[in-house]
Amino acid sequence: MPRTRIAALGHHQPDHVLTNDDLAGMVDTSDEWIRQRTGIATRRIARDESVADLAAAAAGKALAAAGLDPADIGLVTVATCSAQDRCPSIAAQVAGRLGVPAAVAFDLNNGCAGFTTALATADHALRAGAARHALVIGAEKMSDVTDWTDRSTCVLLGDGAGAAVVSAGEGGGDGRDGIGPVVWGSDPTRGDAVRLRGAWQPRFAQEGQTVFRWATTELVPLIERTCQEAGTTPRELGGIVTHQANLRIIEALVRRLGVEDTVVARDVVDSGNTSAASVPLAFSKLVERRAIEPGAPVLLFSFGGGLSWAGQVVAC
Ligand code: ACO
Repeated sequence: MPRTRIAALGHHQPDHVLTNDDLAGMVDTSDEWIRQRTGIATRRIARDESVADLAAAAAGKALAAAGLDPADIGLVTVATCSAQDRCPSIAAQVAGRLGVPAAVAFDLNNGCAGFTTALATADHALRAGAARHALVIGAEKMSDVTDWTDRSTCVLLGDGAGAAVVSAGEGGGDGRDGIGPVVWGSDPTRGDAVRLRGAWQPRFAQEGQTVFRWATTELVPLIERTCQEAGTTPRELGGIVTHQANLRIIEALVRRLGVEDTVVARDVVDSGNTSAASVPLAFSKLVERRAIEPGAPVLLFSFGGGLSWAGQVVAC
């Protein structure tokens, strides 16, 4: 069975920066509260761009960085929970814009855990011989589903996209030289903790403290298991990219995993919570800055509505 690896990454964010002070002019909040409770300083907001625009921009960069022709891509999948279009899928729209002629193209919604779920889905499809190369994208326009009068959520969210080209036939497939085994699942007893309900103007809502408590207790064993399945340990990782929801969650993980000296994504500070886009966006930025040594094992792990989680160790 062929192995798969991430051949290249790309990301895109809208130009408009929304600061905490801007938000303090819209709802009863302050820069101090937002920074202390979430670590977020700014987020990007798409004005004229749709989810498909964001996704296509990130995917185009990943494709160019991989040095592939659009015709090489046999699978396109977009993880998103904020897209307004149900049909054609965002993935089909991206394929059309990039000139990908004949790929299977579908969207995948697993909330904030969407990208890592889509990455595992593409990995499995490529291993089974369904395609040679895949485009896996996380793209969100959370500003479309934000209640801009709710101070408890509107300060958290942002827009953006990240993309990976996944290629079959190379890499060891154990997370040290390719895409490692996925650890994924869901806890329906906390199914209402994160919500984006209804066809007409759905608005993001969550039980923040429930998710916070879950993340700071359940994530460590899940991450340790993900590393174990890939034949490594958290301390041996060259990088850690978890869902960018709250800097306090990330710092708690760093302390409890004992990975103070490891490169850890903290893009939530600049970008806020971009849901399914947060992991590929933060990962692509770290790689672009050459913060991660080429070939080093990197943990990707995300969680969100469901409550769902998915993660794997990758090297690229
Ligand atoms: N500005 C000022 N005060 C605020 C604001 C704000 N923006 N938002 C809430 N408050 C107030 C509340 O009204 C409350 O006031 P009260 O004590 O008078 O009732 C007080 O601040 C504390 O509110 P909490 O909700 O308890 O604040 P908390 O410290 O839990 O922080 C937060 C909220 C940031 C949402 C946190 O719970 C969190 O990050 N949870 C995890 C969320 C997460 O990880 N989600 C991931 C899945 S969903 C997704 O990623 C898309």
